Amino acid sequence: MDGGGWFEPYRIKVVERIPVTTARERRKALDEAGWNTFLLRSDQVTIDLLTDSGTSAMSDRQWAGMMLGDEAYAGSRNFYHLEDAVRSAYGYRYVVPTHQGRGAEHIVSRMLIHPGDVIAGNMYFTTTRLHQELAGGTFRDVIVEEAHDPDSTHPFKGNIDLGKLERLIGEVGAERMPYVSVAATVNMAGGQPISMENLRAVRELTGAAGILVVLDATRAVENAWFVKEREPGYAERSVAEILRETCDLTDLCTMSGKKDSLVNIGGFLGLNDPDLAEEARNLCVVYEGLHTYGGLAGRDLEAMARGIEESVDDDHVRARIMQVRELGDRLIEDGIPVVRPIGGHAVFVDAARFLPHLPQERFPAQRLAAEIYLEAGTRTMERGIVSAGRDPETGEHRRPRLELVRLAIPRRVYTSRQLGMVAASVARVFDRRDEVPGLEMAFEPAYLRFFQARFRPLDR
Ligand code: F0G
Repeated sequence: MDGGGWFEPYRIKVVERIPVTTARERRKALDEAGWNTFLLRSDQVTIDLLTDSGTSAMSDRQWAGMMLGDEAYAGSRNFYHLEDAVRSAYGYRYVVPTHQGRGAEHIVSRMLIHPGDVIAGNMYFTTTRLHQELAGGTFRDVIVEEAHDPDSTHPFKGNIDLGKLERLIGEVGAERMPYVSVAATVNMAGGQPISMENLRAVRELTGAAGILVVLDATRAVENAWFVKEREPGYAERSVAEILRETCDLTDLCTMSGKKDSLVNIGGFLGLNDPDLAEEARNLCVVYEGLHTYGGLAGRDLEAMARGIEESVDDDHVRARIMQVRELGDRLIEDGIPVVRPIGGHAVFVDAARFLPHLPQERFPAQRLAAEIYLEAGTRTMERGIVSAGRDPETGEHRRPRLELVRLAIPRRVYTSRQLGMVAASVARVFDRRDEVPGLEMAFEPAYLRFFQARFRPLDR
């Protein structure tokens, strides 16, 4: 699984100076940010591993495309290029651009969910589930049990548990399940992939019941790499071929182009059914912008079209996955508990085991993200009890079994030496882990609280 002698298949043409701060400056910045890494200013951050979303480096080809933006209100030529790129890489017949992934999720949720419906999926994602709930639906997790176990080395921890799905269909009835929400890879499980075999089985099960399959294709290119690497029969197939096969097993997709597609902003919906495509275009006009720009400038559409073309190149994907894995392996060598296997877009540190003396209501992952920032200015993100939010019915904290800190790696941005420095700083926090106390929440927003919540450090 080592990918052989991989290297970055590009050279660097432009560089950007990164900020370097002192420990005192970082402490002050963190206090001002309410101990929430989302509230730091980026000029207070040295290595920014908050997210791989919209943070990748564009190529010279993409930047050149930006100059070819056709900013016509309707029918921009860049839209037609995007349509061709999506058709060719993902295979959907109809393409509706959106300003980013959640714009597509909003449209799909409004279009397909009626109040009282149940949506099954392979673990929740924050924005995806929220849009399902705002449309009156309830999300039910049917991912395999291994996904909740940071130590399980199952090669496809993004798989759906077919037994759970079948029982759920029996329990609520297919007529109340408009679609199954399939993510490839599964972000909240640690960037873990779903296998083709599992997706095919999901397709069969839902097809028989008349339930649609909606793919969250945000990192489906990375998922295709894992299929190539781990699934029997796929070693000689290209990422591009596997991606097409993945999408062919689904009815429609939502996409955040800010990840796989190598752009700073953009997303789309891919559909095959002409009536659904018509309705999606109508909703796009209401919420995003005309159906040939979807809230994006022509130049953004062009950058995304070119990014999609570059994203399905095997050498690119190999280097991307291997760089993330190298960071993960380094942390494992230092004895730091991380989710295994290392996922596609990020390394997830297991805060529950890193700080075992802190109960979940002391927000161990939130605190650990803050400590990693204090140590050397690396910004990471909590993916635990804060991200999980509250149950809309009971108002109680949802208690996810995974309490993680995510080190997400932007594509084509940082060198391996910089990531080595990050690993060394996390190891230093690990050495003083017994002295790290918890946090209490000082301010809690109503929606997606992890973005804007504020915390106070406790003494013990
Ligand atoms: N689906 C997945 C699996 C995602 O990871 C994201 C975004 C979205 C949908 C929504 O897309 O941000 O373009 O509206 N994930 C980012 C992250 C925010 O940091 O993981 P968006």
